[in-house]
Parts: sequence; C-alpha cells; structure tokens
Amino acid sequence: MVSTRTLGSDAASLAEAAELLRAGALVAMPTETVYGLAGDATSDAAVAAIYAAKGRPSFNPLIAHVADMAMAEALVHFPPEAVALARAFWPGPLTLVLPRRAEATVAVGVTAGLPTLALRMPAHPVARALITEVGRPLAAPSANPSGRISPTEPAHVLAGLEGRIAALIDGGACTVGVESTILAVSEGGEVRLLRPGGIGAEEVLAATGLTLSAPAGDAGIEAPGQMLSHYAPRGSVRLNAETAEPGETLLGFGPVAAAHNLSPSGDLREAAARLFALLHRMDREGVTRIAVSPIPETGMGRAINDRLRRAAAPRD
Ligand code: TXA
Ligand code: MG
Repeated sequence: MVSTRTLGSDAASLAEAAELLRAGALVAMPTETVYGLAGDATSDAAVAAIYAAKGRPSFNPLIAHVADMAMAEALVHFPPEAVALARAFWPGPLTLVLPRRAEATVAVGVTAGLPTLALRMPAHPVARALITEVGRPLAAPSANPSGRISPTEPAHVLAGLEGRIAALIDGGACTVGVESTILAVSEGGEVRLLRPGGIGAEEVLAATGLTLSAPAGDAGIEAPGQMLSHYAPRGSVRLNAETAEPGETLLGFGPVAAAHNLSPSGDLREAAARLFALLHRMDREGVTRIAVSPIPETGMGRAINDRLRRAAAPRD
C-alpha cells in the first residue's frame, strides 16, 4: 500500500511524475481515450508492478505508448501499410500491433512473449509531454482493476487503484471515452481489426485506401485481452431494451425517458464519451440491474456495442 498522490499537469508536476516513472513507480496518466496506468516499458520490475496493481492475467500483453516516430521505429518494423496508418492517425486513438524488433528494449512482460508489440502514440498533450520527459516508452493498460470498467475521469482511477499506484495526473475527463482501435499489420501488409474503437473501418479506408480483414476466427488468441466478460459494472446488464422492466435502471440512448442517457440527441460520439462515466456512476449508485437502449451498429456505435456486449456477458 502506497499513498497515491494527485498531481496537476503543469511542467513541474510532469517532471515529478517522470522522475517517479524513471524510478520504476506507477503513474496514472490521462490520454484522449481513457486513463492509462503507466510504467517504464523497458523495466521488468515496473511492468510486473502494472500486472500486480491491476490484478491482470500475465498472458494479456500491454500497449507501449510512444511520443514520436523515432521511439516507435526503434521498437517495431513498419510495413508500408503501417506507415500509412501512422501518418493518417498518429497521434491519436489508434494502436498498431506490429512485428517486434529483435533488439527492442521493452520488457518481455509487455508483449507477454508474443513476437508482436502493440504501440500507440496518444494525442493527449499531457501523455505525450510525459513520455517525452521520461524519454522511454510507457507501458499503459487502462487504469482500472482487471475486468472492471475503464476510467475516463480521475475519480474513476482512484476508486479502483488508490493505494496501489504512486501518483495520478489529473487531466480532467477523457474526450473519446472508449479505448483505442487496435489494428494488427502483418509483415505481408494484411491489416486486421482486433478491437473496435474511436477510428472506424470507414475512416481507415478513406484516409489510407486500406480495407480491414475481419479478426481471426478465434479473437481470443489474437488479442488475448479481448476476453468476453470485461468492462463489468457491478450490476447485471441487459442489452437492446426498449424500456426498463420493474427493478431495472434504464441507460438510454436517444429521445427516451431514462434514469441516465448516453446521448438524448442520439450522437454516438457523445455516447462513447459518456459510456464509462455513466456505468461508473450506476456502480456508485448501487444499481443492480441495468437495461440499455439499442445503439446503432455504425461508426462509434460498433465500439460502444463491443464494450456493452462484454459488460453483458456471463461472468464466472
Ligand atoms: O486506448 C487505449 O488503448 C488505452 C489507453 C490507456 O492507451 N489502453 C488500453 O490498454 O486499452 P489495455 O491494456 O486495456 O488493452 C490493450 C489491448 C488488450 O486487449 C491486449 O490483449 C491487446 O491490447 N494487445 C496488446 N499487445 C498485443 C499484441 N502484441 N497482440 C495482440 N493484442 C495485443
Ligand atoms: Mg483495459
């Protein structure tokens, strides 16, 4: 048990956070998607501490966050398709799973033994300034206990991890609200969607001309973290509910009468940005049965429905 300090995002605070990270301590940092639980990706001890703080299974690899292309290119090979994707979407809510360089300095725990490495260059100015200040890639899973709802506000981080991390950098609420889109690019240039997120297949096609292959038959092998029950609120979750049954609390979408509404105007981006905050809020309110309005399976709706299906999956 350590006492978790809350730091601001001014230069002096970031210098302090960087010092903690270089010493192997864990710091929660804001990104545009969700808060990340950051540790020095080159340190075996720091990476082991991330798994321990989250209670995360050790076969579920981490994303290394970089500040610039030089840092990225030192770690992985970039097939031309990956160069195009990075040019189009970095910095931003896109993670690329790429063939790891043999000489990459990341701790083996980051990749959980896979020959590939997941990389992301976040757009959030605080995250990028912090990585630059540390001068090393930062491994950062979402800053929540394993299997629970990802944090989009500082209070969510503290609710799950207070006493388990050295510090939290308060950067306010995250603007995207769901985790990054994960694309795997093979040496041969095949691009596969491993996790839907803030960047959709349509945007990828428009910006790069690349079409995405469906995830491999068993996505469980491809993205070990994509376990079915995930993002679990304390209450049970029923999807595609037109109305709440007695005893249920409706999480609405669009013009419906609901206890909480993801977006009364039916805006999918607004709904994504509010999704985890409203699930956290229902946890705090002690809601035991959540019913969720239908969400269209288009654009950001795909990422929202992916998270909701996992939230609704049987837990055992
Ligand atoms: O938006 C995000 O991506 C956030 C912020 C903090 O950057 N991070 C995040 O990390 O969502 P995490 O650990 O919660 O999810 C990372 C996902 C997991 O599903 C993991 O299995 C997958 O990335 N992953 C990591 N490395 C991989 C690899 N080499 N091959 C396939 N999947 C990988
Ligand atoms: Mg996560």
